Amino acid sequence: MNKKIAVLKGDGIGPEIVDEAIKVLNVVAEKFGHTFEYDYLDMGGCSIDKYGVPITDEAIERCKQSDSVLLGAVGGPKWDTCDPAVRPEKGLLKVRAELGLFANLRPTKMFKQLSSACPLKEECTENGIDLMIVRELTGGIYFGEHKTEGDTASDLMIYSESEIERIGRVGFETAMKRNKKLASVDKANVLDSSKLWRKIMHKLAEEYPEVEYRDVLVDNCAMQLIRNPGQFDVIVTENMFGDILSDEASMLTGSIGMMPSASLSETTLGMYEPIHGSAPDIAGKGIANPIGTILSAAMMLRYSFDMAKEADAIEQAVDAVLNENYRTIDIKSENLQEKIISCIEIGDKICDNIRK
Ligand SMILES: NC(=O)c1ccc[n+]([C@@H]2O[C@H](COP(=O)([O-])OP(=O)(O)OC[C@H]3O[C@@H](n4cnc5c(N)ncnc54)[C@H](O)[C@@H]3O)[C@@H](O)[C@H]2O)c1
Repeated sequence: MNKKIAVLKGDGIGPEIVDEAIKVLNVVAEKFGHTFEYDYLDMGGCSIDKYGVPITDEAIERCKQSDSVLLGAVGGPKWDTCDPAVRPEKGLLKVRAELGLFANLRPTKMFKQLSSACPLKEECTENGIDLMIVRELTGGIYFGEHKTEGDTASDLMIYSESEIERIGRVGFETAMKRNKKLASVDKANVLDSSKLWRKIMHKLAEEYPEVEYRDVLVDNCAMQLIRNPGQFDVIVTENMFGDILSDEASMLTGSIGMMPSASLSETTLGMYEPIHGSAPDIAGKGIANPIGTILSAAMMLRYSFDMAKEADAIEQAVDAVLNENYRTIDIKSENLQEKIISCIEIGDKICDNIRK
């Protein structure tokens, strides 16, 4: 297969970690007989420096013309004092909106090799942690009217049936590809938008009888994620609840550098990026962990290109490299067997394992 990938390396450690993901994609292409063509574009602070805007219209157009988008991270102290209208994150919001990326998928997995980094007591993680949060990304309170009048402020949470059905379907389809368990998270005991959410989810549940479905109130979900995260397979929820719960869940693994994410549209065009930021404190030192970005590339193969065995090959290679005790410094533990290596060396080890 031939695929064109728009590449937004971004700022800080972005270029270092994306280079490793591309190295891995090239080994996958070689092994499985594909051709990946890369279109390198600027987004974030690097684009502000060159063009005065966090992303140009031309770069957006070229993303739209690609089969998918791979992103590193954007931002850094250099641009913290920019005019708020042209801050680096504005580029990210613009790409999401222009590409219609309405579904955010965030897997949270505790690698057994890194379990000592989990902040929970051992008895809470007996069932392991391997869950996927499907968050609605373009609706809800972040996009409703925000108003301040005198000493009163309000933010409007709006959802239409079609918006709920669209994300709900992603939740059910994701569950079908995993362990067929779906928790829909809402606040239907209080909010009308959640009552509508629940009604649509129940309708969809009839279409997916194989999926073990349940409703969970958001406050209970926040608690259950700490008490027994292993009970969850897929969680689907609206924008703000998903924002909060996905950050909570990512902390359970204790290793921000390991976690990938995908933002999907109604077509196969998606954007894939690690969940962390541009880590300016370690940029240019060669010590960044590229695994979150490499696993994001694996998600791209799985969700945008329908290349499941290629994605499996990357995920298995990551697992093998961790089993061989190779670590970047952020995931090092007290274990004396561990060998601390650089960003580039971790990329090389993963490539070697895919070639085997
Ligand atoms: N999607 C994005 O592009 C995105 C997301 C979050 C933050 N940001 C931006 O990134 C900048 C830094 O933000 P922050 O410091 O709050 O969050 P951050 O995620 O960049 O860093 C938090 C801590 O985790 C470490 N870290 C993060 N990723 C790592 C990796 N791959 N390997 C090793 N260590 C890693 C960093 O060194 C830092 O100590 C800010 O400008 C922020 O706006 C961008």
